[in-house]
Order: sequence, then structure tokens, then C-alpha cells
Amino acid sequence: MRRRGQRTPDRIVAVGGGKGGVGKSVVASNLAIAMAQAGRRVVLLDADLGAANLHTLFGITRPARCLAGFLSRAQESLEEVRIHTAVPGLDLIPGAGAVPGVANPGWGRKQRLLRHIRSLDADVVVLDVGAGTSFDVVDLYNEADLRLVVMTPQLTSVQNAYAFTKAAVYRLLDRLAGERAQLGGSEVDRVEGRLRATEAADPALAARMRAALSGAGFRLVGNQTFEQKDGRVYHALSRMIFDFLSVQAPVMGWLWASRRIHDSVSGRIPHLLVAPGDPNEVTLRSIADALLREDVAALRAARAAKHPARERSGAAPETGKEALEILRAYMAQSERRPVDWTATLELEDTPVEVAVRDISSGGARIKSPVPLSRGQEAALVLDQVPGAPRLRIVVRNAREATWDYGVEFISEPVPTQDATRTAAEVDLLH
Ligand SMILES: Nc1ncnc2c1ncn2[C@@H]1O[C@H](COP(=O)(O)OP(=O)(O)O)[C@@H](O)[C@H]1O
Ligand SMILES: [Mg+2]
Repeated sequence: MRRRGQRTPDRIVAVGGGKGGVGKSVVASNLAIAMAQAGRRVVLLDADLGAANLHTLFGITRPARCLAGFLSRAQESLEEVRIHTAVPGLDLIPGAGAVPGVANPGWGRKQRLLRHIRSLDADVVVLDVGAGTSFDVVDLYNEADLRLVVMTPQLTSVQNAYAFTKAAVYRLLDRLAGERAQLGGSEVDRVEGRLRATEAADPALAARMRAALSGAGFRLVGNQTFEQKDGRVYHALSRMIFDFLSVQAPVMGWLWASRRIHDSVSGRIPHLLVAPGDPNEVTLRSIADALLREDVAALRAARAAKHPARERSGAAPETGKEALEILRAYMAQSERRPVDWTATLELEDTPVEVAVRDISSGGARIKSPVPLSRGQEAALVLDQVPGAPRLRIVVRNAREATWDYGVEFISEPVPTQDATRTAAEVDLLH
């Protein structure tokens, strides 16, 4: 066995996502298998200190050793609690059983765990970090080169995925700043605002923060997907994370909801070992390949850089909104089309002429000569569309300075005039 600290794994991949039951363990175990089958020496570590179950997914009932033994110092080295699985090249470090204090290991224990993870003798370490956004979970997660966020298309899961990513990003910044982290709250504000404030006060710290963010390696993985259009949700979250948290989090792919995956958990044989030729197998292997191709050296170099390239100049900080509200706006954006129309806004029987700048099936951006307020409802008549359809709208965001308003459609369009619509125009509204 190599001595501790002699070498670090080529890549550490963490699998998180906040919510329990979204499929973090299914994704972590199958990606670990795929990477082992691609010829890498992989260690899968069940770091779900509260609800460890990876060994069960591999059909192991009562592992002889587990993480609890290492945390309580019954075993000196993490290598000693490593066991072989049925998959050549894949070892498992089973999660902690019911040992008091293990779910909250404390700072010293946690640092020791992180140190041992960094010196595991493996090509790839996959960390299943478990649910929640506690510091223990987030610190472990932030130890990785590649930080996977698993989510389902359900809005609660998407919200959790956002909150989890936010917790990871803020924890990272707080630790660089040496401050007590302040997590929580469902309100969204932009990391860019914090970076700019830091830039003014402490440019060197701001540079380290930008470096850490540029090499953070966040990646999204969808799971339990029901239909193709669910993919829009994942991409919407990806864009929102980029805009608000100043990190890239591209979508690596998504898995379908599948009876076979469900059965593989009940049958305690991982999906990749029982279901050849299944579309989810193709996706899992392609995500695993992509993870192995990721330029981890470049990510590590970016994180260590003192003067990182400034990635973007985001908009001014924006506060006071709920994540879900913002996400809806992002989803509406995905098929937005720029237009240049005039339309009639019916405000309590007073019609005003407004300009429509762009439109999607979910909403529009308008310029109004009279001020509107967030949450205000009205009707919008699209005079230049044949049939002059009328829709109920609610104002979602307001940029008073430029008379610019984002409105969401809250009713289907109802034609107010007779007209034969062209296919393209009908398409535009559906
Ligand atoms: N793609 C999928 N299709 C069908 N069921 C799934 C899928 N992914 C996960 N599941 C089901 O969800 C349950 C929770 O998955 P798990 O990986 O344990 O979640 P987590 O680790 O996030 O808590 C599993 O027991 C399995 O039955
Ligand atoms: Mg799990």
C-alpha cells in the first residue's frame, strides 16, 4: 500500500443534489461501475453519513468494515475500510452504520477524512455525499474536482438542486473569505454582486474567489425524466445557475424514469450489470466517458490561479425573488422569439399601447408607457397577430428605468377577431 499523501486520485467526482430520493446513489454507483468497466481503478465512497445504503445497492448486507470504523479511529487508514465489489476495478467504502456522533463528525474528523480521500490509491474516487446542505455534506462535496448535481424534473427537486448548488458556492466563497458561512433563505441574489463588493474591498480575495468558481466543475445530471421536454427544465436551471451563482454547470445528460432502474434497486444488482442495451445504459456510459475526458488538470490549475480571467460582467445584483419565480422566467426564455409588435394592454378598462419585444409560449417582454408593478394582472391583446388574441398576463419583473416589463401568460390566448391564422402564427402561441 502506498503511503498517505504520496499521490492524489486523478479525479474526484462528487454526487450531490440536496434532495433525498432523486437518485444520487443510483447515479453514483452506476457511473462508478461504468468508469471501472472503462479500465479505471475506482473507489466509490458512501459518504451519506445519515442514510448510507450503497452497499445495499451492491447486494452487500452487512459490510465487515465501514466508514464509521475509520471515523471512530478503529481503523487508522481509509484504505483499510475499502472492500472489493463484484465489479473488477471497483472498490467500495461502505457508509457509516448507526454509530453515535458519526452523522456530525466534527471539524477534526472531517479534515482527517478529507485528507485520506485525497490520498486514496485510485484513479477515480466517486463520493456519494448524501442529502441536505449541511456543512459536512457541502464541504465533502466541495472537495471534488467534478461536482455533479442530480435532479429530477420535479420543481421541488429543481429548487433543491439550486439551493444545494448555492450552498456549495457560498460555502466555497465564505471559506476563502474566512467568514462564518451563512446559508439558508430561499431568496436569490447574485454572486456577482458579492464578487464586486469584494473586489472593491479586497481585490486579491476577489481574484481567488473568481478562480475557485471558474474551476469548480459543477455538472448537472437529470434523473427520473418522463418526457423529452423535461430536458428544458435542466437547461433552464443550468442557465440560472450561471447567471446567479457565476459558475458553469452544463447538463451532462439525463436518465429516463425506468422500471429497470427501480427493479435494480429492489433486486440489489446495479442497473449497468443487468440491463444491456437499455437507453439509460447508453447515457450512463456516455456521462462516465465525459467525466473521464474532463480536463481535471485545467480545473485544478484554474482553481489555483491568482489572476483568473474575468468570465463575465453580470447584471446588477437582484434580490427579493424566490428561486422558483426566477426559474419559471428562465424556462419561458428557452423558446423566446424576438418580435417588434404593438399590442394593447388593458389596464382596468384603460387601454394603453405597448411594444412587444419578444414572446414565447409562456410570456413576453413588453415596453409600457405607464408604470406597471410586479404581480399586477392585466390583459394583453396582440393586435398584430391575426385574430388579435387576448391573454391574461401577470407582471413578473419590472425594470422601471427603461419601462421594460417581463409578463407571464396566465391564460390561453382567446381570439378577439375572426381571422385565418397561418400555421406559423398559431405555432407561435402554443
Ligand atoms: N431513473 C430511475 N427510474 C426509476 N426509479 C429510479 C430512478 N432513479 C432512482 N430511482 C428510484 O429512486 C429511489 C431512490 O434512489 P437513490 O439513488 O437511493 O436516491 P438518493 O441517493 O438521491 O436518495 C431508488 O430506490 C429507485 O427505486
Ligand atoms: Mg443515496
